[in-house]
Amino acid sequence: MSFLTPRLFAIAKMVDIEDVVADIGTDHAYLPIYLAKDNKAKKIYACDINEKPLEVAKHNINSFDVKDKIELILSDGISWLKHRPAIHINECIIAGLGSNTMLDILKNDSDQIDCYIIASQTSFDPIREWVKKNKYFIEQETIVLDNEILYEVIKVNKFAGTKVKNKLDILFGPILRKEINQLFLDKWVSEEAKLRNLLIQVPEQDSKHKQIQKKLKLLGKFINKELKQNETN
Ligand SMILES: C[S@@+](CC[C@H](N)C(=O)[O-])C[C@H]1O[C@@H](n2cnc3c(N)ncnc32)[C@H](O)[C@@H]1O
Repeated sequence: MSFLTPRLFAIAKMVDIEDVVADIGTDHAYLPIYLAKDNKAKKIYACDINEKPLEVAKHNINSFDVKDKIELILSDGISWLKHRPAIHINECIIAGLGSNTMLDILKNDSDQIDCYIIASQTSFDPIREWVKKNKYFIEQETIVLDNEILYEVIKVNKFAGTKVKNKLDILFGPILRKEINQLFLDKWVSEEAKLRNLLIQVPEQDSKHKQIQKKLKLLGKFINKELKQNETN
């Protein structure tokens, strides 16, 4: 379906056939509609904290004639699941929000959910730190270019995949940093420039200044090594 942006399409590709899916912060419900129309998911719970987006979602779902597969839920994050203990979610999508809001949502993490597909609008480090702390795994990671912005999308699996072991895994992703491609290099060259800019603006006595310096050091070492290797190949 042409209305899916490259970012939403990258998320949809991580959903396994015939799964039960929840889309948190569904907004227009384009992703659930695509998954239902394409017969990819068995059932989709399209959830949002606000009534307005759910009204739009309802209209879109009716227009595409997929209301038998999609249930709309008005709720903050995944808190609704504890009132529906019979429901089991194979993939819970959280996309288009910042990492801090996502971490708030993930405080209600439950055994009723097997995997998360996450596409944060902000830095991924807090999400990968959460994965490490919970001893979960990363099953898939990708970078996608959408409207001139580079987005990371990750699939977190509670039972199998790659572990998040160290600072490099947290910053770059344990899978992405082993399968380096041009989008990865573009993303980190641009992040490095943004961080250098930020460093000038944050006063030296602010603890954030040291944090940015540390991140830049890690980034510089890793990216320069990879860029050099890329040039020699
Ligand atoms: C920018 S839209 C993202 C839409 C879509 N997920 C995407 O990635 O394109 C964010 C949506 O998340 C909803 N939202 C924000 N905080 C939420 C929360 N804690 N729980 C559920 N939905 C939330 C907003 O109402 C809004 O509709």
